[in-house]
Amino acid sequence: MALMDKHAILEKNATLLLVGSLLVVSVGGIVEIAPLFYLDNTIEKVEGMRPYSPLELAGRDIYIREGCYVCHSQMIRPFRDEVERYGHYSLAAESMYDHPFQWGSKRTGPDLARVGDRYSNEWHVQHLEEPRSVVPESVMPSYAFLKAKPLDVRDFSTHLTANARIGVPYTDEMIASADEDILAQADPNADTSALEARYPKVKIGDFDGNPQALTEMDALVAYLQGLGTLVDFSTYDEVKNAR
Ligand code: HEC
Repeated sequence: MALMDKHAILEKNATLLLVGSLLVVSVGGIVEIAPLFYLDNTIEKVEGMRPYSPLELAGRDIYIREGCYVCHSQMIRPFRDEVERYGHYSLAAESMYDHPFQWGSKRTGPDLARVGDRYSNEWHVQHLEEPRSVVPESVMPSYAFLKAKPLDVRDFSTHLTANARIGVPYTDEMIASADEDILAQADPNADTSALEARYPKVKIGDFDGNPQALTEMDALVAYLQGLGTLVDFSTYDEVKNAR
């Protein structure tokens, strides 16, 4: 009876009720969220993950600027139909260097988390120029203008510095070589051994089919071709990583 009386006081006083509810919600929230920062399987490091190369990072910026995420998710859920269609479900670690991450929830088009290596560069360029030329029923807009837009590479190292400030492990060497790395990745004639050492599995080549110019199309296709290709799932040990 005494408890009921006390509860009545709470219920009749709006301010007290509000403060009480906030208190309950925050304690509940902290109890749910705090362990996530300490559990090994939510902060697992997975072999193969590395920060984006400068050209991939530039492509990612274009992906965000053009709103590709409005129609495409980058999050393969651990369900059979998704795994059979897109490949191994996404690991948290695969987005660890994404600021902001591109998981999304709207799928007007297919999930892109593992689209890297699925098509040729030529296919991507043709698809982005005119989606209906390769997929007749497509409702995706055309992004042909990217091929005519020179990529802005001025002081690109500042983009890496900004990412480093928020926790992406770009080394001083990576930052210092960013301006040359961004050019080298799309230049089939460049010496790319240093670039490949800094960014293992990086894709090199003339992505947009026009070796004369470095365009936004080069960057976007370089980004797409890298998506989901860093972790080698033939050697990824699910049991070990789940412990
Ligand atoms: C209005 C929604 C919409 C937007 C915006 C959009 N797409 Fe798409 N996208 C689609 C649809 C629908 C498909 C499936 C049909 C097709 O392949 O064209 C698709 C397919 C794709 C595919 C092929 C995926 C696969 O596995 O076959 C890629 C790659 C792609 N989009 C990249 C992009 C990029 C990059 C952007 C931004 C520059 C973008 N899309 C913007 C709707 C969209």
